[in-house]
Amino acid sequence: MTRVLMVCLGNICRSPLAQGVMEQRLRRSGLFHGVSVDSAGTHGYHLGEPPDPRAVEAAARRGYDISGQRARRIRDGDFQSFDYILCMDQENLQHLKARCPGLEVDRLRLLLDFAPGSDGQEVPDPYYGGEEGFERALDLIEAAVDGLIPELRALDP
Ligand code: 4NP
Repeated sequence: MTRVLMVCLGNICRSPLAQGVMEQRLRRSGLFHGVSVDSAGTHGYHLGEPPDPRAVEAAARRGYDISGQRARRIRDGDFQSFDYILCMDQENLQHLKARCPGLEVDRLRLLLDFAPGSDGQEVPDPYYGGEEGFERALDLIEAAVDGLIPELRALDP
């Protein structure tokens, strides 16, 4: 089993969207039994809460159901449990690198490293903006997940 963890700051906007997109792509590509996906936040401002209603609605407009997810914070055990720990922005990535400095750098990545032409770029935080920020986040996340799926398929032919 390959395990993927999506990480953002609050685990109520971007990483739940990334988990929802990934779950749908895994089902669609027949990889659901070989790859699992979860999400977590670097901070615990919204522990146990469902995703932000704007994220739930933006996801639903594209056919993703993220309403059952609940926010959690990253745990030390996650660094061993997950093969891919994919951060939405540099702040998340630096936070995790500082917390687990010995971890192989290729396990901790920016999600958008997997989107063609977006290497090193970030999914901007939509929390303080309007609906369009959630649409933009979904556009970026979908492109990256579509880039990641072939790599996962190659691991589990
Ligand atoms: P996320 O967005 O990291 O994409 O879940 C945020 C959610 C909550 C906060 C900031 C960003 N907050 O400050 O509470």
